[in-house]
Amino acid sequence: MRIYSRILGTGSYLPENRLTNADLADQLAQQGVETSDDWIVERTGIRARHFAADSQGCSDLATEAARKALAAAGISADELDLIIVGTSTPDMVFPSVATMVQHKLGTAGCPAFDVQAVCSGFIYALTIADSMIQSGSAKRALVIGSEVFSRILDFKDRTTCVLFGDGAGAVVLEAADQPGILATDLHADGKYKDILCVPGHVNRGGILGDPVLKMDGQAVFKLAVGVLEETARASLAKANLTDADIDWLIPHQANIRIMQSTAKKLKMSADKVVVTVDQHGNTSAASIPLALDTAVRDGRIQRGQTLMLEGVGGGFTWGSVLLRY
Ligand code: UT7
Repeated sequence: MRIYSRILGTGSYLPENRLTNADLADQLAQQGVETSDDWIVERTGIRARHFAADSQGCSDLATEAARKALAAAGISADELDLIIVGTSTPDMVFPSVATMVQHKLGTAGCPAFDVQAVCSGFIYALTIADSMIQSGSAKRALVIGSEVFSRILDFKDRTTCVLFGDGAGAVVLEAADQPGILATDLHADGKYKDILCVPGHVNRGGILGDPVLKMDGQAVFKLAVGVLEETARASLAKANLTDADIDWLIPHQANIRIMQSTAKKLKMSADKVVVTVDQHGNTSAASIPLALDTAVRDGRIQRGQTLMLEGVGGGFTWGSVLLRY
């Protein structure tokens, strides 16, 4: 009999420090950087974001989200046999955030590792966990997207620093005899590395290159709109479903205009798109599980509904997961 994976519970965490566009604009003005609530809302749909406290690392946010997902799933950390974290902003070069989360949850023994696919990180991590469950090598997986992008922003570059926020989202996946995850689709094209990157790296005891986010926003925008439609259609085709079967579209939360455009291409009305970018900004690998958990907890997403999760990010990487919740 074929084994599927299904979502048992979701959780998320946002740091306490919430900055509205006006708060951020005031702070930036003190450094001579000019922006406004009007510009940010009009171009991106973002109204606020959360920034982690200095004392909080990526693994702290991830652990908070994980605890909530485990509670929602009704299982303990000891029952997990796989932990995967999607992140580009780990606490350290190594060990992985996943091993730190494992320890903070008070468990040990199961495999734990990170996946680096930037804003597609959660989609990549979920797909790997699904494959491991389907193959029988795991029964209960914790899959997390967690980021502290505030640590890699250049607060003198108004074209990027107003866009991102910190946060974490998590799901517990369990083996099941019914789907669950219906189809997955992953892609990458490394020729686009320069349009979205953090070029600095640790080298011989120092940092070589600029360790802050660089983005050609318009190039990213154009690519994102195209690949998000393609990957959604690829997952639908694999599952023998059509646009009309999707109850909720949960795209990477980068820019409301990209999300609206994707929804239009998939012939979905705007009220079927889960939008959290207004309140969270772009939280990279955390954005999709944060949006998912938000809509599960406010009651929009119901058991039995069909969800299209899709992400796009640096690399370039992109992909989708179609699932029955
Ligand atoms: O998670 C990874 C995925 N990332 C994304 O999906 C990002 C995709 N790209 C975007 O969302 C958009 O391209 C941006 C929001 C980044 C930029 O929007 P845009 O409509 O492409 O604006 P633009 O870059 O063409 O800039 C328009 C103007 C420029 O001024 P001039 O040259 O026309 O005088 C910018 O200097 O807006 C100016 N500008 C700002 N003004 C006030 C850029 N940033 C700001 C700012 N505040 N924060």
